[in-house]
Order: sequence, then structure tokens, then C-alpha cells
Amino acid sequence: MSNHDIAQAMRHHHAEMVDTLHQLTQQMVMASNWKFTRDIVTPWITTEIGRQALAEETTVYPVARRINYQLIELMLYDHVALHTLTTELERPDTRDAALMACAQISHLFESHVDKENRFIISPIESLSDVNLEVVLGEMHQLLAP
Ligand SMILES: [Fe+2]
Repeated sequence: MSNHDIAQAMRHHHAEMVDTLHQLTQQMVMASNWKFTRDIVTPWITTEIGRQALAEETTVYPVARRINYQLIELMLYDHVALHTLTTELERPDTRDAALMACAQISHLFESHVDKENRFIISPIESLSDVNLEVVLGEMHQLLAP
């Protein structure tokens, strides 16, 4: 696969994750038993977003760091904030607090992946000395259609 094909797959994967998170957030809003739904939503966020963040931190971010060190520090800060908000989603005893945490995660994640698409993936996909297939290693197979 070319860098462009892999970059497109990464953007597509981000869009799917944002869409799923919106659907899960909507399920939280509509749920008659919010705790039951929260206990379905939270593991998805922990597993999918957590795994994605960890993979990025060991693959794409080290490459992008040489282009823009401060941006990567900000992106790592987003990862910590997403993790913190997810732990807050596990705690609330009220529906409103859980909905607030879920909505914050959804908004932050959408903004975060938009920054990744625009300011990380786009610049590195055109670098002649970067092979995204090699950079992503086994992760790129997860993105394959
Ligand atoms: Fe990320």
C-alpha cells in the first residue's frame, strides 16, 4: 500500500470511531437505564480509544515529533485528558454527570482526530523518507478494509 492509501485508511478509521462514539453518546442520552448503557459505553471507549492512543504513541507520533514537537506534546495531553474523562465516566451516580462526561469525551475525541488528520497524517504521508506501512507495522493491518 502507498502512503496515501494508508493515510486514507487512517482517516477512514478515525471517521468510523467518531461515528461510533456519537452513536454511543446518543444511546446514553436515550437510555432508560443509563448505568447499564454507561457500562457498555465505557469499555468501548477504554478499549478502542485507549488502544488507538497507545498505538499512535509508538508509531506515528515519534515520526511526527520531528516535524512538530509541540503539537505531539499537545496530542499526548489530549490522550491523558481522554483517559481522565473516561475514568470520570465510570464514577458518576447521576445521569446528568455521566452524560456530561460522555459528551466531553465525544467532543474532545472528534477534535483530537481532526487535528491528527490535518496536522499529523497529512504532513507525514508526503514525506519521501517515511514509509507508513513500516511505521505502523502490524497496526496498518488493522486499518485494512
Ligand atoms: Fe490520538
